[in-house]
Amino acid sequence: MSLYENNKLTFKSPFKGIHKICWQSPSNIALIKYWGKYGNQLPRNPSLSFTLQNSYTETSITYSFKNESNGISLEFYFEGKENIEFGNRVEKYLFSLIPIFPFLQQLQLRIETKNTFPHSSGIASSAASMSSIALCLCSIEKNHFNTLKSEADFFSKASFVARLGSGSASRSVYGGFVSWGESDEIENSSNEFALPLTIQIHDNFKDLCDSVLIVSSDKKKVSSSTGHKLMEAHPFADSRIKQANENLVKLLSALESGNFDSFIEIVENEAFTLHSIMMSSNPSYTLLLPNTLNIIKKIRDFRSDTRLPICFTLDAGPNVHLIFPRSFENQIYEFVEKELLVYCEPKFWIKDYIGKGPKLKID
Ligand code: DP6
Repeated sequence: MSLYENNKLTFKSPFKGIHKICWQSPSNIALIKYWGKYGNQLPRNPSLSFTLQNSYTETSITYSFKNESNGISLEFYFEGKENIEFGNRVEKYLFSLIPIFPFLQQLQLRIETKNTFPHSSGIASSAASMSSIALCLCSIEKNHFNTLKSEADFFSKASFVARLGSGSASRSVYGGFVSWGESDEIENSSNEFALPLTIQIHDNFKDLCDSVLIVSSDKKKVSSSTGHKLMEAHPFADSRIKQANENLVKLLSALESGNFDSFIEIVENEAFTLHSIMMSSNPSYTLLLPNTLNIIKKIRDFRSDTRLPICFTLDAGPNVHLIFPRSFENQIYEFVEKELLVYCEPKFWIKDYIGKGPKLKID
């Protein structure tokens, strides 16, 4: 039985009218990568990300009471249009949540969702969208059942529920730096939900930028779930899990001490490990493109010439995330425009920053 299964959460009598809830929830960028899972969406290793500011999904759920309590009744709209493909995925997700939110079977639901960032741009849309749905569901529970009264309880459950939709979404319910997964280094850490970091973050890392350079906006070549599966029989799996734990310890210490050299070493190591695991998997995937490597070379040259604290990370795709403190924004944007945009889809890059987390828009 899951931590939050609760058959008391059903309406004893019908409620009147149509209600609406709306949350904006951001995507996040992982510095220590979640790669490999087991059981019901549990991570093989702890991960650490920071939440973005401008790249978010806005999700509203409009709901009314339906007389027959029979499965999920959902209309789903993406960017203003009915979307059957996404709708089916969300319906399956909601169906799987019935043991946690049994009231879902008693509702007629209309979900409308839109993103502030383009699709296939290297911004994890599932993290933003699944966390925004999870937050809306927790708000419905809170408003009607008088539960989840403390902020800590509310967000912990939202993180747990978001995780069931997409692992990385568990981290998006909090702002700033967030970890997910058991680690001896992080008190109360769990594989079931994420936690905001409570260590004192050094000023060097308080205002980071994440500029995403879009080398290709083609659809993902390998889905996350397929990717995570590759870890199951991977010959380096145990070493990778050990490495992620060690990198987490080093990264926490760098975030506290302000050591940018150590931060760069770990973040770039994690990005290349993710891709080397994919390349050495069976079947093998090469998601890096020649221009990804061209950009990385330029970043490393620029760093050694200027000594500016800038590094890259990668998701499971070819697009490059440039990470640097906001105080160097102007110099770095100039470098991007002069030296890196030639390797990107025409004029295609996204400027984002570390953000404060989700926002409730309609309660
Ligand atoms: C490379 O969270 O998208 O972005 O749980 O199957 O939905 P599912 O996977 P997902 O995996 C993200 C992998 C990653 C690294 C990370 O965000 O930690």
